[in-house]
Amino acid sequence: MKLTIERVSKQYGHKRALDNVSCELTEGVYGFLGANGSGKTTLMRILAAVVKPSAGRVLLDGVDIELLNERYRDVLGYLPQHLGFYKNFTVEKFLLYIAALKGIEKEEAHAK
Ligand SMILES: Nc1ncnc2c1ncn2[C@@H]1O[C@H](COP(=O)(O)OP(=O)(O)OP(=O)(O)O)[C@@H](O)[C@H]1O
Ligand SMILES: [Mg+2]
Repeated sequence: MKLTIERVSKQYGHKRALDNVSCELTEGVYGFLGANGSGKTTLMRILAAVVKPSAGRVLLDGVDIELLNERYRDVLGYLPQHLGFYKNFTVEKFLLYIAALKGIEKEEAHAK
């Protein structure tokens, strides 16, 4: 599996949050290091497909993630910096809810 970040830029009004970022990530563990406001979260949001780049694109195994759409979300796992959860859910209910969102069948979810 290979994720290609291809000349990605992100503009918020006059602010350029990302300027022509390119790199290739193969399987493994990676981290983004940078000063406050250097664009780490913006890049993570683009990789998580919740924000669109102003220019450039992200490819999974050579295919633009915008074209992959739901198929990209199927292989995507995302742990946000600030966790949100529903206070009226038990832990089990919440896990089953997330499993349902990921398209895991009820029985398999219970077994897992
Ligand atoms: N939604 C937005 N609208 C306008 N400007 C934004 C928005 N999101 C981020 N920015 C700006 O883009 C730049 C990059 O922000 P980003 O949050 O990606 O940086 P970061 O590296 O994650 O910072 P931190 O280390 O503080 O988490 C900053 O100057 C920020 O103010
Ligand atoms: Mg951040």
